Amino acid sequence: MKDSNWTLKDSRPLGEMVAPLLSWYRQNQRILPWRENTDPYRVWISEIMLQQTRVDTVIPYYLRFLAALPDIRSLAEAPEEQLLKLWEGLGYYSRVRNLQRAAKQIVERHGGVFPSGFDEVRRLTGIGDYTAGAICSIAFSQPTPAVDGNVLRVISRLCKNPYDIKEATTKKQVTEQLAKIYPDEGRGDFTQSLMELGAIVCLPNGAPLCDRCPLKALCAAADDDPTQYPIVPPKPVKKIVPMTVFCLRHGDRFAVRKRPQNGLLAGLWELPNLDGTLSEKAVSDYLQAHSIHGTVEAKPRKKKHIFTHIEWQMLCYDIVCAEESPEFCWVTADEIALPTAFKKLIK
Ligand code: ADE
Ligand code: SF4
Repeated sequence: MKDSNWTLKDSRPLGEMVAPLLSWYRQNQRILPWRENTDPYRVWISEIMLQQTRVDTVIPYYLRFLAALPDIRSLAEAPEEQLLKLWEGLGYYSRVRNLQRAAKQIVERHGGVFPSGFDEVRRLTGIGDYTAGAICSIAFSQPTPAVDGNVLRVISRLCKNPYDIKEATTKKQVTEQLAKIYPDEGRGDFTQSLMELGAIVCLPNGAPLCDRCPLKALCAAADDDPTQYPIVPPKPVKKIVPMTVFCLRHGDRFAVRKRPQNGLLAGLWELPNLDGTLSEKAVSDYLQAHSIHGTVEAKPRKKKHIFTHIEWQMLCYDIVCAEESPEFCWVTADEIALPTAFKKLIK
């Protein structure tokens, strides 16, 4: 790790951003209900709601949730129906189930008092590094960064650093760098100031509003093209694999066989298939050579299936068979687990 990848413009230390960012935040922060006080329960609920949901959407849910379940015990004891109703429309319902699980853990492990140590907080169900960092800094004034995609983007631009923000090591390094510069006062504000800058000034997709940014003079990317940061590594080129698949049917059963023990979808079931794109004539010849007595239905269907590094371009022939060729296993659709690539070919 080169130190220069974690400095501001003209190699100034990262810590120089703290004072201007804090004072900007104190004057420009949005007024949001979870910023009224630093009760850890309130901070926690807001951070969980904000995980996959926009601020504007969260506000009314947050107010309703807190009015109905104002503290840890009421959450721990709430009937599931009430929880689901309070969450209805927010999506990712595992979040609210995990909230209740964690509330019960707080009652059991901590006598109903929200724990303040990072490790205890991190161990609660549904709380990851980001949320634990946010809660501990905002509610308990600890120097614990909360690093999400927004914060990674802001830091990448400020330092013009070349790291792939999808890599776990990048997140770890940003967390370490930020932990070193936390101020002695206003730690929760510092955490939220980074989030706030990412949310309303240093915007993703398209132009950040550098002219309104309190860090413009310190930002390494500002004189350059900030939209080039964070660096997005080129998508790996996918290998295109044309293949011909046979959907051989006899009544409600169809022909499957096992894939080889090595390679893609190793050892799983598949529909019979061949490399390359076969014409109807070539398919008829193939059937004859394998003593498969069947009628090839009108038009073959084209379907793609995309894996991480490979794209199958499948041409699928539907064939109604007069008998069940012993070369294959014959099964109904719900009898076996068929990988999605093939499952979507079964009409
Ligand atoms: N997104 C995640 N946490 C947030 C917070 N505390 N304020 C605004 N947006 C957020
Ligand atoms: Fe982001 Fe522009 Fe501010 Fe740099 S100057 S942090 S690119 S908004």
